[in-house]
Amino acid sequence: MRLKARSAGPLKGRVRPPGDKSISHRALIFGALAQGDTEVEGLLGSEDVLNTAAAVRALGASAEQGADGRWRVKGAGGLRQPTETIECGNSGTAARLLMGAAAAYPLSARFDGDQSLRKRPMNRIIAPLTQMGARFDAATGRMPLIMHGGKLKGITYRSPVSSAQVKSAVLLAGLGAEGDTVLIEPERSRDHTERMLGVFGADIGQVEIEGAPHPRVRASRLHGARVYVPSDPSSAAFPAAAALICGKSEVVIEDVLINPLRLGLYETLLEMGAKLSFEETRDPIGEPIANLVVRASELSGVAPPAKRAPAMIDEFPILSVIAAFADGETRITGAAELRVKESDRITLMVDGLKACGVDAEELEDGLIVRGRGPKSVRGGAEIRTLGDHRVAMSFLVLGMAAKEPVIVDEGEMIATSFPGFADMMRALGAKVEEV
Ligand code: S3P
Repeated sequence: MRLKARSAGPLKGRVRPPGDKSISHRALIFGALAQGDTEVEGLLGSEDVLNTAAAVRALGASAEQGADGRWRVKGAGGLRQPTETIECGNSGTAARLLMGAAAAYPLSARFDGDQSLRKRPMNRIIAPLTQMGARFDAATGRMPLIMHGGKLKGITYRSPVSSAQVKSAVLLAGLGAEGDTVLIEPERSRDHTERMLGVFGADIGQVEIEGAPHPRVRASRLHGARVYVPSDPSSAAFPAAAALICGKSEVVIEDVLINPLRLGLYETLLEMGAKLSFEETRDPIGEPIANLVVRASELSGVAPPAKRAPAMIDEFPILSVIAAFADGETRITGAAELRVKESDRITLMVDGLKACGVDAEELEDGLIVRGRGPKSVRGGAEIRTLGDHRVAMSFLVLGMAAKEPVIVDEGEMIATSFPGFADMMRALGAKVEEV
């Protein structure tokens, strides 16, 4: 399905993007590990998360959506031998968290994914899980692979990358290991696993190493819990970006997760001069939430500090689009991880921006975009997304403010994270259509 976006009038209105993807995956997986019932309100019903629901069923839990829209997960207090391949689709989070969760159980499971996931590195979790005592048939370090779980021992693992998926895999394995498991990472990645494990009754805390706190778990039995899933800040970024770059827009984005370790994009936008505010801040569930008010803004180029990258890792594609409408140079560094996402997002964004007439340049660990202000972007290209949902949404947003329409080649992949994206943008007044 090809999608086309073209410029329309200002965007106006209130929207609530779907539930946070990271929290949704975790609610299902932790519910499956727990003894008893877990109820999840606002679960993201995207393809990635539905794959995780199918996976936890294959591993012995029940996970169903009720007539009231809530999901109910019944865990058996542990995972059991699956009889089928665990299909993770497009989702690195599903693959890595499920392997970590299953590693402490006496089972052998085959994990597989789509073309994009089959290219992504799994050694980053194979290494620590092997140190803990799991075994892998994974000659290429990629999927498909077979994991043999079993008796694990706790480790202190110094991850070479700041990755919540690596951290979560190790901590989840640590729930079934003998002794303490500690994870050290260069910069802190999102901490939903640590927060939510506490809610499910895990023995989780922090240890101070070299002057900084790092998460530590011990063997634990989880109990069922109630989870509320706020709107995903990584999805909210698209209507927010569109409002910033489409003149005279004013949009309210409701119920957005504002965990500080997810707010790097919004901090950066404020530095660029964005008219952006957080209102009605609240914390009903151990995760802070707010409404986001965004107005069209004159923006300046910026160089976000490299150490902020983990807090905005999924938002670099849309930031690079916003930067094209800012005045001056935006320099993104510290973002080498973008090369091992659903696609190589550095190459793909730079290629697409250039095709739209934007001055952009690749760096080893990021990119430079030289913006020429609002109304400066030509557009008028068909963008190759290689099935990457965030690349697709980013270029559709570009098309909403460019002089000529923009087409993306694989619009259906947007459903992996943001079902209803085109409808929501149309409700705000954008022009997006199938072609
Ligand atoms: C996620 C962690 C991040 C992020 C992904 C979701 C998570 O990946 O890009 O979309 O839910 O833990 P990395 O851990 O690979 O940085």
